[in-house]
Amino acid sequence: MLSPARERSGPSATPRFPSHPARTRLIDRRRGTALQCVDATGGPRVPKVLLVTGGSGFIGGHVLATALAAGWGVINADRAQAAPISGVDFRELDITDEAAAGALISDARPDAVIHCAAIGDIDEAERDPYFTWRVNVNGTANVARAAAQTRAHLVFLSTSTIFDGKRGNCIEEDPPNPLNVYGHTKVAAEYAIRVLHPAATIARISMAYGYPRTGGASFLTRVEQALRSGKPTNQPGDEFRTPIDVLTCADALVELAGTHTQGTIHLGPRERISRYDFALKVARRLGVDERLVQDRRAQTLPGRAPRPKDVSFDTTRAHHMLRTKLLDTDRGLARVMGG
Ligand SMILES: NC(=O)c1ccc[n+]([C@@H]2O[C@H](COP(=O)([O-])OP(=O)(O)OC[C@H]3O[C@@H](n4cnc5c(N)ncnc54)[C@H](OP(=O)(O)O)[C@@H]3O)[C@@H](O)[C@H]2O)c1
Repeated sequence: MLSPARERSGPSATPRFPSHPARTRLIDRRRGTALQCVDATGGPRVPKVLLVTGGSGFIGGHVLATALAAGWGVINADRAQAAPISGVDFRELDITDEAAAGALISDARPDAVIHCAAIGDIDEAERDPYFTWRVNVNGTANVARAAAQTRAHLVFLSTSTIFDGKRGNCIEEDPPNPLNVYGHTKVAAEYAIRVLHPAATIARISMAYGYPRTGGASFLTRVEQALRSGKPTNQPGDEFRTPIDVLTCADALVELAGTHTQGTIHLGPRERISRYDFALKVARRLGVDERLVQDRRAQTLPGRAPRPKDVSFDTTRAHHMLRTKLLDTDRGLARVMGG
């Protein structure tokens, strides 16, 4: 059961200490001055520090921007940085390097870590299971251990792909039964989190949509590019998801980082929609010919790793726990696409 970690006696319940030297260094580098944050009452204030792994990716990039706007001191720890965000401190990190992950996190001493770094491409994962295991499982274990050792709260991004898709409307306690390599590695990563950082939040996402901010691939971009250029897009009408727009997703993740909630939570609106119907909504919003969206069932798409059919979420817990308003697809598309 998701519960506020503050009520527990675990590491995340530990108060934060404003005179933290690593935090001072972060702010020094970022602003080029000594620690000079002043709150509304005029008193000195030290911002909380958030370290985001995979901040150069699709979701991570939005998490960086959202956290920065919310007043966090923000570090992006990723293999590379394509599109820097002003005010975000970049640190190069390969999470499969246990010593490097430990050293970076212990040096930065963040209050919270949002762990986005992963091999998230399901077909790529299927082609290279060993590499995917190293990043998604060993890398996650490295991040979890380092976060626990520095008493940082941890939010880990997991996926609906851990389920077999036979039932849909999945609740957090449903047993995992993945159909592909990616799903297996995320189940193993969840176990690593529970063992190495029991106070962490495991935030599962069914499908995030929006436009990349710092990098990463986006389903919406691919669909939009095809439709705008008059090409058909094949979307399985038998794959049901609970999509969340990436801006709302970032809001929810940053909220979870700040509230130190413990346990597993499904993020998304109260909605179940097929990929085909989702793409139709995009076509309508763009004002293009809806016939370009074609319902091609999963088994007829060549070179595609197996996908679960219905991994829509029951998101009751998220709706009860979060202040963030979880937007349905129409409002989410309006938020990310404008209008
Ligand atoms: N997008 C979705 O719809 C969705 C749905 C469910 C769950 N998730 C989960 O959400 C998280 C973020 O997804 P995303 O879509 O933002 O993925 P993404 O765009 O692929 O971003 C992942 C980031 O992690 C980096 N990374 C990969 N291996 C690394 C390593 N060894 N060390 C350090 N950084 C590394 C990637 O860098 P490179 O580009 O250099 O590889 C990339 O910048 C993942 O855990 C994913 O499983 C996403």
